Amino acid sequence: MQIFIDSADLNEIRDAQAMGVIDGVTTNPSLIAKAGKPLDQILPEICEVVDGPISAEVIATDTAGILKEGRALAKVHPNVVVKVPLIADGLKAVRTFTDEGIRTNVTLCFSLPQAMLAAKAGATYISPFLGRIDDIGGDGMDLIEQIVEVYDNYGLDTQVLAASIRHPLHVVQAAEIGAHVATLPHKVILQLLKHPLTDIGLARFLEDAGVAKS
Ligand code: E4P
Repeated sequence: MQIFIDSADLNEIRDAQAMGVIDGVTTNPSLIAKAGKPLDQILPEICEVVDGPISAEVIATDTAGILKEGRALAKVHPNVVVKVPLIADGLKAVRTFTDEGIRTNVTLCFSLPQAMLAAKAGATYISPFLGRIDDIGGDGMDLIEQIVEVYDNYGLDTQVLAASIRHPLHVVQAAEIGAHVATLPHKVILQLLKHPLTDIGLARFLEDAGVAKS
C-alpha cells in the first residue's frame, strides 16, 4: 500500500519525506487554509519536496470552472493530480481530464455507488472518507472493503485511496483490505512509528553502553 501524507504544512511534509516513508501528498482547501498560504504558492513548494502524486483540489463546482482550475493546477508540475468533488459537474470534468491525460482524485466519496460512478468517469483515485463516516456512527472501513471488492470484480483501474484516516488501526485495516493508498495526517505517521518496547529497549541499550542520560 502506498502512503501519502494528508497535509499542506511544509515542515510536516519535509519531515515525512526525510523519513522516506511517503509516496505522495494530498491537500484540500481546509489544509491549505490551515497552512496560511494560497495554493498557487504552496503547490510548487510541495512539488519540490516530494517526487510523487500531489493532489490539489479545485474550488469551482461547475464543469467549466473545474476544468479551468484543474488545467491550471496540472500545468504547475507533472506530478499534480487534480482533486475534484464527487458531484455531477465534477464527474463531467473528470471524464474530460481523463481524456486529456490529466490525473484526478475524486474526493468526498461516502458510498459504493458514488465510487462506481467515479471509476466509470475514469478517476485515477477515489477518496472514500472513512473517518467522517465513523464520526456519524457508520463503518468507514466497510465502505473501503466494498469498493476494493467491486473494483476488483470488474478489473477497474481506479485506485482506492483511503482518506480521512484518524488513527493507526485505520491504516492497518486499509492495508489488510487491499486499499492501494492511504493518506495520513503527520500525527498518524508518527503514531505508526511509535512502540513502547522500542523506547524501553533503546533506553536499556544506551544505559548499557554508558551513554544514557541520568
Ligand atoms: C483526503 O484527501 C482528505 O483531504 C482528508 O483525508 C480529509 O480528512 P478529514 O476528514 O480528517 O478532514
